[in-house]
Amino acid sequence: MARIGIIGLGFMGRMHYETYQKIPSAQVVMVADKDPKRAAGDLSGGWGNMQTGVSQLPMDKIRGTTDWRQLAHDPEVEIVDICVATPLHLELALEALAAGKHVLCEKPLALTSEDAQKVASAAAKAKGFFMPAMCLRFWAEWEWMRGAIGEQKYGAVRSATFRRVGSMPAGWFKDGQSSGGAILDLHIHDTDFVCHLFGKPSAVFSRGYTKTSGKIDHLVTQYLFENNVLVSAEGSWCFADGWPFNMGFTVNCERGTIHYDLSRKDSLIVYADGKANVIEHDKHDGFFGELSYFLDCVRAGTRPSRVTADDAVLAIRVLEAERKSVETGQVVRVKT
Ligand SMILES: NC(=O)c1ccc[n+]([C@@H]2O[C@H](COP(=O)([O-])OP(=O)(O)OC[C@H]3O[C@@H](n4cnc5c(N)ncnc54)[C@H](O)[C@@H]3O)[C@@H](O)[C@H]2O)c1
Repeated sequence: MARIGIIGLGFMGRMHYETYQKIPSAQVVMVADKDPKRAAGDLSGGWGNMQTGVSQLPMDKIRGTTDWRQLAHDPEVEIVDICVATPLHLELALEALAAGKHVLCEKPLALTSEDAQKVASAAAKAKGFFMPAMCLRFWAEWEWMRGAIGEQKYGAVRSATFRRVGSMPAGWFKDGQSSGGAILDLHIHDTDFVCHLFGKPSAVFSRGYTKTSGKIDHLVTQYLFENNVLVSAEGSWCFADGWPFNMGFTVNCERGTIHYDLSRKDSLIVYADGKANVIEHDKHDGFFGELSYFLDCVRAGTRPSRVTADDAVLAIRVLEAERKSVETGQVVRVKT
């Protein structure tokens, strides 16, 4: 069994806990939250753009603490799963790695690429494995799309557009100093996936504005590549309250158009040869994909490669170029 400790029992901590219940080799042995009610296993309340059900942890099987350091150094804990707000990621990840643990850390890895690089450098030297929880890379429809592109199933990609939009989340996300705004907290998923598909863009051109956080809360980016493939993404949490969160993509290839819309019953469709082909695919969500992959890597003693700390640094570096582009109105080159 993989013995896991979760730090932070809000929306993501609860989501990870529930996901571990679906993985036979996972055993959550310890939890930490600064809120004593949550540290005692009471998960009622909170927020989330996806439904979660567990409201009480079985504390006869799990130890709880309000001190995350205690969990990071606990000898029973093999894997530290960091699910606290973004400003805490750097300190917690460094300490858990220094304690010799395997560490999974929620995205974004840090508020700046400079801080994210500190984690990447520590992870490169650490005894334990490290993986940023970039769940989109493990989302079944997105994996399918990447596979179809890799195999050139419908020929070369001509264009790819991505969309991730919702209303302003509650709590600390509204404070841009903590969350970085929608550009960092939300849009990072698509920027990372763009890099995953096409590599580092040479430059970006972005337009955007703030609504509540003081940082960019809605933007549209064009990612510029030497081969002229047209790639763009929209990210927003400025939509009206009550707007249902949505994500999607349209990838247009030489002989087919791949379309995914979270809100549609048949969410993944390929239009080719004049027909709409509903794609039957594995239905797992990205949380199950990423957590089971990380546990498999730990069990096999194989360093995780499907997403790395370096990937997380690159995504934030591209986002920093996007932010500069919004501020200057110019095309901004992405640093190497
Ligand atoms: N992968 C995704 O799709 C996704 C979705 C939402 C959030 N996230 C990320 O997950 C992280 C957490 O977000 P969330 O929505 O779960 O936040 P949240 O506010 O719901 O939960 C954070 C929890 O951490 C606890 N906490 C705060 N300070 C602490 C400390 N010093 N020690 C121990 N516990 C502490 C809080 O009491 C709270 O229970 C963020 O980095 C966020 O960007 C990822």
